[in-house]
Amino acid sequence: MKRDLKSLQDFSSKEILELLKVAIDLKKCKGRLRNDLKGKSVGLIFQKPSNRTRVSFEVGVSQLGGQCVYLGPEEINLGKRESTEDVAKTLSRYLDAIVARTFSHQTIVELSQYATIPVINGLSDLFHPCQALADIMSIQEKFGRLKEINIAFIGDGNNVCHSLMLACGKTGANIHVATPKGYEPNADILQQVQKEAHKTGSKIKVGYSPKEAIKGADVVYADVWVSMGQEAEREERLKIFQDYQINQELVKSANPDYIFMHCLPAHRGEEVTKEIIDGKNSVVFDQAENRMHMQKAVLLFLLKKFSK
Ligand code: CP
Ligand code: NVA
Repeated sequence: MKRDLKSLQDFSSKEILELLKVAIDLKKCKGRLRNDLKGKSVGLIFQKPSNRTRVSFEVGVSQLGGQCVYLGPEEINLGKRESTEDVAKTLSRYLDAIVARTFSHQTIVELSQYATIPVINGLSDLFHPCQALADIMSIQEKFGRLKEINIAFIGDGNNVCHSLMLACGKTGANIHVATPKGYEPNADILQQVQKEAHKTGSKIKVGYSPKEAIKGADVVYADVWVSMGQEAEREERLKIFQDYQINQELVKSANPDYIFMHCLPAHRGEEVTKEIIDGKNSVVFDQAENRMHMQKAVLLFLLKKFSK
């Protein structure tokens, strides 16, 4: 039976911890080429731009001996030139896995429903699971544990926030999310997170005060205020989010050895100041690097351990 990574809900806590170990091991053997994916092809369907996701998958797959086929918006035109169902069924005859970055999460769900090969969500409007997996790997590396780590997520309760919350719920890390009113995390996803947290002992809080969220935080996390596809709301969002900037004043209440995290791309002067993101506590490029190690682990998990 094929498995997918549409959201972290597709993986158990145990599987996520297993992925962490494999990714950390893969990082140790950085650069050493392997043949695990020899003869395998991975399609990258992207409806939106990307630096990290595309490059880390392309290079990661090539390091494992496989190849990628990039399918940008012009090539596939999902749902317009051809239905998502027909795309999924056709690509399943050529490829061994699909990575998809879509506007609507429903497109990921449909791809997974009709594809006979694993489908990996490379960002949708609801989730960014590959990002969250690399994030918890980065936290594990810096602190040596996830349990009892306090994460403050400050900004938009969107895709990155949802996946990070799920990652916390599933691994026992604590998270305090602060968003402006009207930009809270999705209520259904919050409920799923709380169910997971109940099993692992993770503490989940959602509120409106960045000052409250950051108190005693080990990890301070930011995402952009204007996500891809929301460009028309830019002016309005910049005003609404202005009190949610991560700056020197705000981080005074975090733990002195806190780390600053950001999925990138970043907008210096908006969600974070230059001195914070380029400062000594920032680990944003370790996070970016870990995307590749973690995605290699995910591919090995989906393609080697489980046959299609
Ligand atoms: N963080 C992330 O997914 O980056 P890209 O949009 O560049 O892929
Ligand atoms: N929330 C952002 C994340 C980018 C990696 C977006 O969806 O554009």
